[in-house]
Amino acid sequence: MTTTVVAAAFGGPEVLSVVDEPLGDFGVGNVRVAVKAVGVNPADYKVYSGEFGRDVSQLPMHLGFEAAGVVVATGEEAEGPAGPIRAGDEVILYRVPSAYAGELIVPTASVVRKPAALSFEEASGLMVAGATATHALASTEVERGDTVLIHGASGGVGLMAVQLAVNAGARVIGTAAQPGHEYLRMLGAEPVLYGEGLLDRTRALAPEGVDAAIDTVGSDEAIDVPIALVADRNRIATIAAFGRGFALGLKVLGGAPGADPGTEIRAAARLDLTRLVEAGKLRVRVAATVPLVEAAAAHRQSAAGHTHGKIALIP
Ligand SMILES: NC(=O)c1ccc[n+]([C@@H]2O[C@H](COP(=O)([O-])OP(=O)(O)OC[C@H]3O[C@@H](n4cnc5c(N)ncnc54)[C@H](OP(=O)(O)O)[C@@H]3O)[C@@H](O)[C@H]2O)c1
Repeated sequence: MTTTVVAAAFGGPEVLSVVDEPLGDFGVGNVRVAVKAVGVNPADYKVYSGEFGRDVSQLPMHLGFEAAGVVVATGEEAEGPAGPIRAGDEVILYRVPSAYAGELIVPTASVVRKPAALSFEEASGLMVAGATATHALASTEVERGDTVLIHGASGGVGLMAVQLAVNAGARVIGTAAQPGHEYLRMLGAEPVLYGEGLLDRTRALAPEGVDAAIDTVGSDEAIDVPIALVADRNRIATIAAFGRGFALGLKVLGGAPGADPGTEIRAAARLDLTRLVEAGKLRVRVAATVPLVEAAAAHRQSAAGHTHGKIALIP
């Protein structure tokens, strides 16, 4: 048996409950992992909010896509994307369904070694945000010498996109509320306040123009400003404004119908992300650690929309 969190109905965080469930069959090609931390992502509460539909056959709904933990058992010759997997290995699991649990049985294909430099809390938040940011930068072809505008730079995906773009040699302007500015400067970005006047403030920072933009917010401003500043719409990506993104011919990324899911690039990003962490070129900012049984509180915090980094749930 393992402790897990389920949404028994569609609604707000109040529909979440903590239950004990059988762990399931071990099966061929799987490993069993004691979960030390689970990464929280906005999609975790959006799936049961009704935002993506209300198909009652999906209830009760299990939550979460990423976690970090310790392998407790493997089959014979267990092999993951980065090589053999043994009991005792500290690992990251991505992408896995139902990650909000104390123990998981997962396919070896979703198991990568946890960089020693990361705590379990940090490791649990590396992959969804990091792989999404990798996809966004690749789709907008950001490279050395570019000036890139990142909306929502203080968020989970934003902080990853900022670091990856700086690593690529781009100049990064990131929209954020004032409390996030110092951290963004430390990462090598130039923060700019979002809200009225953003277009003028960004023009003042980059009078020569902006080459590419990534929207992780979905607000009108986060689309209108790039439309005004970036000459080539193929170099504007959104992970949050699906309707306007499609209507304006932008790169729309993610799981929405018609969007580019980037399945291969996101899976391939896992090893690149761990290598960057090991090289000291990528960090995960943990905004909060919350007991798994208080997942509802974590979702309320995330849904407020101003988390700076990642929330980790601790089983
Ligand atoms: N399509 C995909 O593949 C995909 C993948 C991952 C996530 N997403 C989506 O992308 C969005 C961001 O995800 P996340 O994990 O980065 O969320 P997050 O960690 O909760 O971060 C959201 C950030 O947005 C900032 N923010 C809020 N209002 C803003 C505004 N008007 N302008 C600029 N920044 C603003 C907040 O910082 P301040 O304190 O500065 O306001 C906060 O740090 C979510 O909607 C999520 O569902 C999509």
